[in-house]
Amino acid sequence: MNADGRTRLNQTPEWTALTKHREELADTHLRDLFAADPERGAGYTLQVGDLYIDYSKHLVTDETLRLLRELAAATDVFGLRDAMFRGEKINVTENRAVLHTALRAPRDAVIEVDGENVVPAVHAVLDKMSGFAERVRSGEWTGHTGKRIRNVINVGIGGSDLGPAMAYEVLRSFTDRDLTVRFVSNVDGADLHEATRDLDPAETLFIIASKTFTTIETITNATSARTWLLDALGAESAVARHFVALSTNAEKVAEFGIDPDNMFEFWDWVGGRYSYDSAIGLSLMIAIGPERFREMLDGFHLVDEHFRTAPAEANVPLLLGLLGIWYDNFHDAQSHAVLPYSHYLSKFTAYLQQLDMESNGKYVARDGKRVEWQTGPVVWGTPGTNGQHAYYQLIHQGTKLIPADFIGFAEPVAELSGELKAQHDLLMANFFAQTQALAFGKTAEEVRAEGVPEELVPHKTFPGNRPTTTILARELTPSVLGQLVALYEHKVFVQGAVWNIDSFDQWGVELGKVLAKRVEPALTEGAEVPGLDASTKALVARYRELRGR
Ligand code: F6P
Repeated sequence: MNADGRTRLNQTPEWTALTKHREELADTHLRDLFAADPERGAGYTLQVGDLYIDYSKHLVTDETLRLLRELAAATDVFGLRDAMFRGEKINVTENRAVLHTALRAPRDAVIEVDGENVVPAVHAVLDKMSGFAERVRSGEWTGHTGKRIRNVINVGIGGSDLGPAMAYEVLRSFTDRDLTVRFVSNVDGADLHEATRDLDPAETLFIIASKTFTTIETITNATSARTWLLDALGAESAVARHFVALSTNAEKVAEFGIDPDNMFEFWDWVGGRYSYDSAIGLSLMIAIGPERFREMLDGFHLVDEHFRTAPAEANVPLLLGLLGIWYDNFHDAQSHAVLPYSHYLSKFTAYLQQLDMESNGKYVARDGKRVEWQTGPVVWGTPGTNGQHAYYQLIHQGTKLIPADFIGFAEPVAELSGELKAQHDLLMANFFAQTQALAFGKTAEEVRAEGVPEELVPHKTFPGNRPTTTILARELTPSVLGQLVALYEHKVFVQGAVWNIDSFDQWGVELGKVLAKRVEPALTEGAEVPGLDASTKALVARYRELRGR
């Protein structure tokens, strides 16, 4: 028992039961599970909103699922969930509420933080964003010289970049194709250079997105963007027509020189990686329009309500979280692949990397003690068919167990027609074939029966038994995107709750930031940095030499 009243996770009877159960299942193959239950394919499925979830190709039985749910009950996942939805300060190390769910709550909802209902403020900002987005889209909001805004550049990093950049890509077919929308995040000057080199400053709007408005990469890029603009337009007053800010920090925004009227606010109870449905989504809203943005928020809300109210047996985020725990903690899986069969989801996994790995990449539990169990997996993946011709070899025949999510759609986007539309069946044939091959493989007997020479039989044998979740929806809409993101947000929540870690802080990124600040004068001025280690010192010296300093 710990000071926080919890038994250490790996000392609970539920953990012990799962360890034992894992041993009992050691020799069970998915082929056996399917043979024993002809209904498994249709039975091991759930529906949430537009998402059909097939979890039949997992190394689980009814008993496994029951034991996993008991672990969730023992660790009070639903208790923490309710505390989150109530606005309690469950981000203990920063003493903050965790209320991204309030960002998509309906106008008449009441959600309180420190006794104050935050929903009216959420909708006031959404309304302000909508008004601004409409003005840019209609051409009413012009640049300093009176020209129409044709280019929108979001400058931000991490949660202030990945969400809108991903969602813009996902919803490209819903965007105003006359607008050029780009995302600059890297402090490498090449990023801003490539984003601006072919644009007319008089037609360009910069959206400076930073929760803290102190992030060095963003402030540096924003400053360079202002120089680029003013070099072309001259007057300082141009900034007011070409720069808006998305932030929680009004003071710093004003200090930078952005008119507070041009600031779209959010709040400290929105984590950076949970923020793209807040003001941080302004670039996306300009691209797709307020109505589509609201449809996306409704999609988020639908899954929030499902997570909040569905019983454990039918709760999809709970299920996906627990399946991850099954592999992470009881099968020693180190990573988790997310493999979308949609070109538009090309940035989805990169987005999930921050969501999952910044949330659950922690070695200290909420009680301040080191965990004695594995926490967050390495999340990786790219659109599926490309991956098939690159790294799927390792998933099929490598020595590592890599659970994977396959995400696909019955319909291609409405813009496609003719042959391009017809290609969709081939795309989806691959989608279905891959999870089949991963689950059932190909036995040595089957290979021999094809007349393969004996020495090649082991090479052509596929062990199978490689677990996957299939997520299938009819089409990729703004609402479906909201549903998908909320599903993963809550999955990550479930895992953090079971592991007893604070999924909402990110202290692990601080040290690198501090050291970069300390080492920079050594690069630029050759300054002596006290306490610099021998390796870094030699590298800095070589860098200066290469730069002719
Ligand atoms: O360094 C990590 C981080 O704090 C992320 O959590 C955050 O999304 C990102 O930096 C950007 O922060 P900000 O929005 O304050 O610029």
